Amino acid sequence: MKTCIYPGTFDPITNGHLDVLHRACRMFDQVIIAVTDNPDKKTFFSTEERIRLVSENLEATPNARPMAFSGLLVDFAKAQGATVLIRGLRAVSDFEYEFQMALMNRHLDAEIETILVMTKEGYNYTSSSLVKQVAAYGADISDFVPANVDAALRARHDLST
Ligand code: PNS
Repeated sequence: MKTCIYPGTFDPITNGHLDVLHRACRMFDQVIIAVTDNPDKKTFFSTEERIRLVSENLEATPNARPMAFSGLLVDFAKAQGATVLIRGLRAVSDFEYEFQMALMNRHLDAEIETILVMTKEGYNYTSSSLVKQVAAYGADISDFVPANVDAALRARHDLST
């Protein structure tokens, strides 16, 4: 049983994240979507909300499940019996940060490998922060996020549906 970890803040999950998840689920028997639960990191949605928004979008990927994690990612991966981390690359500009994280994680645990997956073209400029930013002004974000996230953002901003 090959398990990989797809870690992130997922604040909130976007269609770009779901695209990476689908690709991971085709390569691995089991994918754990590791949602960071870091009390020092201020997020728009709580950890419970972020997990719910993820779990409501897993019909097409039955071999994926979300879990909250805190502490070092490599320790979480080890505890789950996984040695592979999956991260998405939208553009070359993502590469430097991802490269640094991959090498740091490998330094922390030499068994851990990172696989960088290229997102589908069209998601190159989809990010959780941009989506939150434009949603706050009432812009239509339905092309970028699943319906439950659209609804959750609208509800938080008290916008009509
Ligand atoms: O979606 P994000 O915000 O880019 O995800 C970043 C995340 C959560 C994967 C990263 O911050 C992380 O792994 N945090 C856990 C602490 C840790 O292990 N840090 C060292 C990673 S180099």
